Amino acid sequence: MPGIDASSTFPLGDRPVKRLGYGAMQLAGPGVFGPPKDPDAARAVLREAVARGVDHIDTSDFYGPHVTNRLIREALAPYPDGLVIVTKIGARRGEDGSWLPAFSPEALKQAVHDNLRNLGLDVLDVVNLRIMFDTHGPAEGSIEAPLTVLAELQRQGLVRHIGLSNVTATQVAEGRRLARIVCVQNQYNLAHRGDDALIDALARDGIPYVPFFPLGGFSPLQSSTLSAVAERLGATPMQVALAWLLHRAPNILLIPGTSSVTHLRENLAAGDLKLPDDALRDLDAIGRTGHA
Ligand SMILES: NC(=O)c1ccc[n+]([C@@H]2O[C@H](COP(=O)([O-])OP(=O)(O)OC[C@H]3O[C@@H](n4cnc5c(N)ncnc54)[C@H](OP(=O)(O)O)[C@@H]3O)[C@@H](O)[C@H]2O)c1
Repeated sequence: MPGIDASSTFPLGDRPVKRLGYGAMQLAGPGVFGPPKDPDAARAVLREAVARGVDHIDTSDFYGPHVTNRLIREALAPYPDGLVIVTKIGARRGEDGSWLPAFSPEALKQAVHDNLRNLGLDVLDVVNLRIMFDTHGPAEGSIEAPLTVLAELQRQGLVRHIGLSNVTATQVAEGRRLARIVCVQNQYNLAHRGDDALIDALARDGIPYVPFFPLGGFSPLQSSTLSAVAERLGATPMQVALAWLLHRAPNILLIPGTSSVTHLRENLAAGDLKLPDDALRDLDAIGRTGHA
């Protein structure tokens, strides 16, 4: 089984991006609320990512709130050509750090303008509409009203491309009838594979699927099978988890999150990891049993 070339790309909107990108959520303070303990270290992670060729960064103005976007601007603006920054709207933070829906037309417009200001951009590359019917996972319901608002902001030239996040397959279909959807960002990893059919359907249509929590998010993946495979391959479990995602489907774009330069380098090196057939078989079984 060949490895995935670390420099291989897939189109996101109208630009090819490398399949290994970076998710910036971990750069805010504990609980993704408030500033990080060491803002210089956070900016160093961003600079290292771009220095190592990352051309796809995922963020949101509700990380902090505002903290992550400001760190991105401080570390990286003026932005290098070819860097695609993907943000998301549809939520806000309560005073206690809670995650609340923010779907009114006013809130969505405000969110786009907040992202533009905090990132220092005239137009946002990609904005994911983060559906919040259930904060913790996709839940059915029409997305027409908020998507229509976002499409209007796109017509005004403030947003280049639209994506969807935390959505069901039905909502993806509804969204695609209303607007051009350039990516879907849902929770998916070795142990959490509810979107298998959706990933394959999007692959057939050339639409990127961007798994959030690729390493398990707030509960990092732990599996004796994963550890055993990693040991056989002389890699770390996190590298194997990322390599498995790259093998899972050609339209998967990765945005692993980290606040550490060491972990960032380790994660980016996963693009060169070869997974032999026996490793793939063992890893696939983790998803089938549902045990991480
Ligand atoms: N659309 C949505 O609703 C949504 C929700 C959540 C996240 N996201 C996006 O998805 C991105 C990825 O998700 P995530 O950051 O929450 O979770 P993740 O990538 O699954 O995992 C991040 C966690 O893994 C740790 N980690 C990273 N690399 C590691 C390594 N090589 N070895 C050991 N531990 C490692 C990080 O800690 P260290 O900091 O110590 O490395 C952090 O605790 C986010 O950054 C965000 O942009 C989107």
